[in-house]
Amino acid sequence: MHCFRKITEDLYSVGGNDRRLELFENLFPLTRGVSYNSYLLLDEKTVLFDATDDAIGRQFLENVNAVLDGRPLDYLVVNHMEPDHCAMIEDLVLRYPDIKIIGNAKTFPMISQFFDFDLEGRTVTVKEGNTFSTGKHTLHFLMAPMVHWPEAMMTYDETDKVLFSADAFGIFGALSGNIFNDELDFEKDWLDEARRYYTNIVGKYGMQVQNVLKKAAGLDISVICPLHGPIWRTNLDYIIGKYDIWSRYEPEEKGVMIAYASMYGNTENMVEIFAANLADAGVKNIRIHNISKTHVSELISDSFKYSHIVLAAPTYNNGIYPLMDTYLEDMKALTLQNRTVAVLGNGTWAPQSTKLIAAKVSEMKNMRLLETSVTIKSAVKDSQREEIVSLARQIAEEVL
Ligand code: FEO
Repeated sequence: MHCFRKITEDLYSVGGNDRRLELFENLFPLTRGVSYNSYLLLDEKTVLFDATDDAIGRQFLENVNAVLDGRPLDYLVVNHMEPDHCAMIEDLVLRYPDIKIIGNAKTFPMISQFFDFDLEGRTVTVKEGNTFSTGKHTLHFLMAPMVHWPEAMMTYDETDKVLFSADAFGIFGALSGNIFNDELDFEKDWLDEARRYYTNIVGKYGMQVQNVLKKAAGLDISVICPLHGPIWRTNLDYIIGKYDIWSRYEPEEKGVMIAYASMYGNTENMVEIFAANLADAGVKNIRIHNISKTHVSELISDSFKYSHIVLAAPTYNNGIYPLMDTYLEDMKALTLQNRTVAVLGNGTWAPQSTKLIAAKVSEMKNMRLLETSVTIKSAVKDSQREEIVSLARQIAEEVL
């Protein structure tokens, strides 16, 4: 049975939620599921903005059918061709054989890569700045390459000032009936997942996000309709501001994130002493992660959040502890920048981790690696407490 909500006089939310999926992209843990948003405009022409994942295909088709209420579906705008949004295209073509597809020059080759149906006579190709009238509404197309694939674009409805933003402003988490930001406590319940989504999915493409934000700044936007998560119809500057900070790789908060690996608790003990001394020095914003228990996507999210990062790990196979290595490689791939990093290492007979972690951080762009580090052999001894305390005080002075 259909289940949709109205957004504006002519626009309906016709997507749905997947609370069964364990891993988004078969990679990122979903504790609260995910929504696949799709939007249907009823004008002189009917226009669907993106489809959904096939996991919610039945619900999606029932919603579209119910909102159309016997009308044909004239157009599908494909803002993004990743299968979590495009998987139902062929089903739409089969169900609405006269449908035309609006996309850009990079959209249609991808459709032919994913599907076998004939595109002949079915395509409307748009470029940056093109407009398209659906009757009362005028659609304006903005290219958004690499946010988050090369074909990505956004569509702005000039009539109702609605931006269909594709993956931008997307969030992990299924919606619980409340689909609008003003129906939620966003800061309390959604901000962390918004950051985890942005930093892991789009984090690498900060420059491209900045370009899109500049384009969006020239538009009078009343509503943002992303492909995942809540629809924004109030306080738009808040989420745009978050995207601006994240895409400039600026820390969101002054504070210290400590990511540690510890095989038998000795490196962890060093971290606890370090954190206690940060707290003694007055730092309140401290977050410790055991990287063996925390998914790397959460580590990345908090790495984008905090101004200072402390990395602590034992030596393993004469190299970096594997999970720490994965985290560092991810940080590098996502081009995290502008953080101050300190390293705490451990090793029983040939401690290498401090030096090797520091070398990896040095390879990253615009990262400030503190010259002072601490290396223990097996366990913390009284003789090294002062080194730990001193480094904690140094970082506290910077944070406070
Ligand atoms: Fe939600 Fe890039 O797909």
